[in-house]
Amino acid sequence: MKLLVTGGAGYIGSVVAAQLVEAGHQVTVLDDLSTGHADAVPEGARFVEASITEAAAVLDGMDGVLHFAAKSLVGESVQKPALYWEHNLGGTLALLDAMRAAGVGRVVFSSTAATYGEPERSPIVETDPTRPTNPYGASKLAVDTALGAFAGLYGLAAVSLRYFNVGGAYTAADGRVYRERHTVETHLIPNVLAVPLGQREAVSVFGTDYPTPDGTCVRDYIHVADLARAHLLALDACAPGEHKIYNLGSGTGFSVQEVLSVCREVTGHEIPAVVAERRPGDPAVLVASSEKIKSELGWKPEHPSLRDIVADAWDAVPR
Ligand code: UFG
Repeated sequence: MKLLVTGGAGYIGSVVAAQLVEAGHQVTVLDDLSTGHADAVPEGARFVEASITEAAAVLDGMDGVLHFAAKSLVGESVQKPALYWEHNLGGTLALLDAMRAAGVGRVVFSSTAATYGEPERSPIVETDPTRPTNPYGASKLAVDTALGAFAGLYGLAAVSLRYFNVGGAYTAADGRVYRERHTVETHLIPNVLAVPLGQREAVSVFGTDYPTPDGTCVRDYIHVADLARAHLLALDACAPGEHKIYNLGSGTGFSVQEVLSVCREVTGHEIPAVVAERRPGDPAVLVASSEKIKSELGWKPEHPSLRDIVADAWDAVPR
C-alpha cells in the first residue's frame, strides 16, 4: 500500500514506518521535526518536512494514513491547553479534511491510555468511562470521538490504538536501531537510564504514598516493537464506516520501584533514587486489558518482559 506516516520521525512513528517499509509498503513520512529527528526516518521511506496542516500536498494516491504527529507532554498540556487543542485536535481535523478531499479513507490513530483518566477498575477495557484528567488526554479523546463521527458520516475506516507505557527499542532487519530520544524527557525508563549514562545524578520517584503495594505508581509497559506490529494489523482491520478502538499494553503492572530494580539489574548500576512530590494528574494504577486486540486481530506481545524492554532501551543507547 501507499501510506502516509505523520510523525514518522518520532520514536513510535519511526518504528512503525520501519516495519511498514520492511513489510513492502511504499511509505512517505510527514514530520515538521518539532520533536522528531530526520535521521530517524527509515531508509526506503520518502521524507517530507512539513506540518500535518500541509498534508494535502502529499495525500494524492495514498491508500491510508498512520497518524502519530502530536504534542504529547502531559505537564505541558496543563500549562498550555490551547497548544494541545490546536495541534492535536485542530491539526487532525485539517488532516481528516485533506484526506476526504483526496479520497483517502483509511486511518490508524495514535491514541492513549490518558483518554481514560483515573480508572474505576483494573485492567481497563475499551468500554470503560473516558474521563481524561489533562488537556493532552482530552485532545486525544476528542480525536477518537471525531473519528467515530467521520466513520458514521463519511464512511471513514478508522482504528484508534490506545497505548499504555511504551518502552524499548527496535532493531530493523537491516540492523538499524530505532530508540527513544526526546529532547524533553519525562518518561520513567529513559530518565532512570540517564543515571548510569552519567546524564543525571539520581532519579526522582514521584510519590511513594499511592494506594499500591509499595506506594509507587503502577504502569503497564509495552515494547515498542510489539506496539508497532499492532499498527500493521490495525491497517488491515480498517473497515469503511467503522471506528474501532483497541487498548495496547502487556496486561501486567509494574510499580516505579519495580522498574527501578529492573533497571539496576540490567545496567549493573546502583541508580540512586530520591523521593519527590507526586506528579499532578498521575493515576495510581494504569493497566490495560488488551484482550480485544488479541481476540479480534490476533495480536500478541512477543516481548512481554519488562527486563527485555529495559535491556533493549539500554543496549540501544550509543556509547
Ligand atoms: N515517574 C517517576 N520519575 C520520573 C518519571 C516518571 O517517578 O522521572 C513516574 C510517574 O510519576 C509515573 C510513572 O513513573 O507514575 C510512569 O511515568 P511516565 O511519564 O513514564 O509515563 P505516564 O504513565 O505518565 O505516561 C504515559 C505516556 C503518556 C500517556 C500516559 C497514559 O507517556 O503520553 O502514559 O497513561 F498519556
